[in-house]
Amino acid sequence: MSRLRVGVIGCGYWGPNLIRNFVGCPSTDLVAVCDASPARLAAAAGACGGARPTSSVDELLGVPLDAVAIATPVSTHFALAARCLEAGLHVLIEKPMAANAREAQALVDLAEGHRRVLMVDHTYLYGNPVRRIKECVEAGDLGELYYVDSIRINLGLFQADTNVVWDLAPHDLSIVDHVLGREARSISAWGCAHADPEVEDMAYVNVDYDDRTMVNFHVNWLSPVKVRRMIFAGSRRSLIFNELDTSEPIKIYDRGIDLGGDLEGRRKRLVSYRSGDVRSPHIEPGEALQAVVAHFAECVREGKTPLSDGRMGLRVVRLLESATRSMRAQGGRVVLANGAAADGNARARTSRPDELHPGRPGRPDREERGHALLR
Ligand SMILES: NC(=O)c1ccc[n+]([C@@H]2O[C@H](COP(=O)([O-])OP(=O)(O)OC[C@H]3O[C@@H](n4cnc5c(N)ncnc54)[C@H](O)[C@@H]3O)[C@@H](O)[C@H]2O)c1
Repeated sequence: MSRLRVGVIGCGYWGPNLIRNFVGCPSTDLVAVCDASPARLAAAAGACGGARPTSSVDELLGVPLDAVAIATPVSTHFALAARCLEAGLHVLIEKPMAANAREAQALVDLAEGHRRVLMVDHTYLYGNPVRRIKECVEAGDLGELYYVDSIRINLGLFQADTNVVWDLAPHDLSIVDHVLGREARSISAWGCAHADPEVEDMAYVNVDYDDRTMVNFHVNWLSPVKVRRMIFAGSRRSLIFNELDTSEPIKIYDRGIDLGGDLEGRRKRLVSYRSGDVRSPHIEPGEALQAVVAHFAECVREGKTPLSDGRMGLRVVRLLESATRSMRAQGGRVVLANGAAADGNARARTSRPDELHPGRPGRPDREERGHALLR
């Protein structure tokens, strides 16, 4: 079977990783790379094999291609992806998929209308640790999931066009979406801007999936130390994913509480503590991005729906948009109408028009500052 002819747009920080993996993937041929910056293009050129470099998207679209991967800033995602889909190309787009839910929905519709694959690079879903976490949860190894607690903090790279939630939370939100397999009902976020008064650089985000599973995310560009940790705590066992521990990224703790007796007994706090073994299952090493590009090629070739398709990308964008709206209203809860409002947008418990500044996710317009509590 012939290889998928791919072009990459965006050769900044992340683009070269895509380039390297497309060059190394047996089912893809990297045929063109594009960056608006000649310096970035020149820096990436050495690793592009025989791919044609260009600083013009028009020129890239003139090259015979089957698909493109887009690794440009989020504010450019919609326009570039829409052009490529309309040109009949399959699209792999970086997270977050678009700058707002309206644009993300439009891309989903365009891809469906043109019968093209639209996949979002939610990289973690393709890594072996997250694969194992999903298996554990689905097999019931953890019992009933009580909570997910995620910390993703370090001295972060300040982004020009997004706040910390749009930069870091797509990873955690996509992992939880994938592992839980259900849609969020509502979201509340509390954030603070220090370096740039218009861009939150730390935030606490709470997502409500159902009455008994608490899900919290802490994202932060101001932490002196790097922490990448998620706890999935269940009634039977708890699992901790520590991404920075490359030899044992997952530990499963047979620790927790056992509830004795009937309801009356529990009211009297007949709780006993279980302190069993800790297990570190073997996790096969491997680069998640390699699996991303292979999965993309497979979906195009076999007409499959990607694990992280446009609809998942849209769900994540809806949560990011709602989290930012909530932060601007000092943690006011944004109701997602059980994940899917009829118009595809989240409804906030507020009467004001709620669109964020188009094309600049995570940056407020003037009226959004100092808004009263939503409830
Ligand atoms: N999946 C991941 O783990 C991961 C990690 C980092 C970044 N990302 C995502 O990748 C995307 C890019 O992030 P980055 O950190 O590489 O950004 P970056 O600013 O380092 O690079 C973006 C590049 O795009 C080029 N560019 C911008 N507009 C263009 C246009 N219209 N045509 C051609 N080139 C254009 C810029 O010149 C720049 O070289 C973002 O969406 C980001 O969230 C994903």
